[in-house]
Amino acid sequence: MTELVKTGVEGLDSILNGGIVKNAAVLISGNPGTGKSILGLQYLYNGVDQFDEGGLYLTFEETEDDIREAAESIGFDRWHEYVESGEIKVYDKRTLLRDGDFSATLDRILGDLQDTNYDRLVLDSLTMFQLFFDDEKEQRQYLLKFIDILKDSGLTSLLTTEQSAIFPETDIGLENFLTDGNIYLIQSPAGATSNRYIWVAKMRKQSIKNSMFPLEIAQGGIKIYEQAAGFSMVGESPPWFGEETE
Ligand SMILES: Nc1ncnc2c1ncn2[C@@H]1O[C@H](COP(=O)(O)OP(=O)(O)OP(=O)(O)O)[C@@H](O)[C@H]1O
Ligand SMILES: [Mg+2]
Repeated sequence: MTELVKTGVEGLDSILNGGIVKNAAVLISGNPGTGKSILGLQYLYNGVDQFDEGGLYLTFEETEDDIREAAESIGFDRWHEYVESGEIKVYDKRTLLRDGDFSATLDRILGDLQDTNYDRLVLDSLTMFQLFFDDEKEQRQYLLKFIDILKDSGLTSLLTTEQSAIFPETDIGLENFLTDGNIYLIQSPAGATSNRYIWVAKMRKQSIKNSMFPLEIAQGGIKIYEQAAGFSMVGESPPWFGEETE
């Protein structure tokens, strides 16, 4: 039977029919502010808090302090404690960009990952990671190598990327094909406010509920309403297409 890694995010494991397939690399796509970073933090936090699984968090955009503040502001109160104990290990922009030579840094990290005891990994973001390469060929080579190492080292990973779910205008990148799962986070205007949704577009080796489900970000993190009637991306118009424009 396929071994599954529970995210512990309310509603999400049920949509995934139990969790993420162990050793999978899953792409989390969405526009700015859709909750990609919060989902990543929550996945690692729950790993330690509920399942006794350690996690690695890699970010090129923020410092360790920024991440702790973000985590604690949303209610992951013991984040700092878990970092202190080593159950969560953060590679922040200072560690990652310290040497000035990005490929040397990357080789060092990939070396670390190869014999890691950690179970979960979050890379926030893959978009930023890809910007460090001069040409597309080098970018592709590293992406392939990186995803291979993640899968071989027993890590179950979430990689965030800035990509919109508005189909079919979406630019489907190589990263969508190379990863085992694609999850989209969507925010659409609704009157004076906005609605949030999640859509699991693919998950290899796993039967999933692939409708869109409402999502909420509040104190405690992300919550998904999988009991609400999901709607399909095919056939029916997603909510933002049906709205009056005049
Ligand atoms: N404590 C909180 N309570 C309620 N909502 C919050 C809280 N903290 C953050 N949010 C919401 O979550 C959104 C940010 O989520 P997040 O930072 O995960 O987005 P992102 O997809 O990573 O964005 P980016 O692409 O800019 O990195 C905010 O725009 C805000 O609406
Ligand atoms: Mg973010």
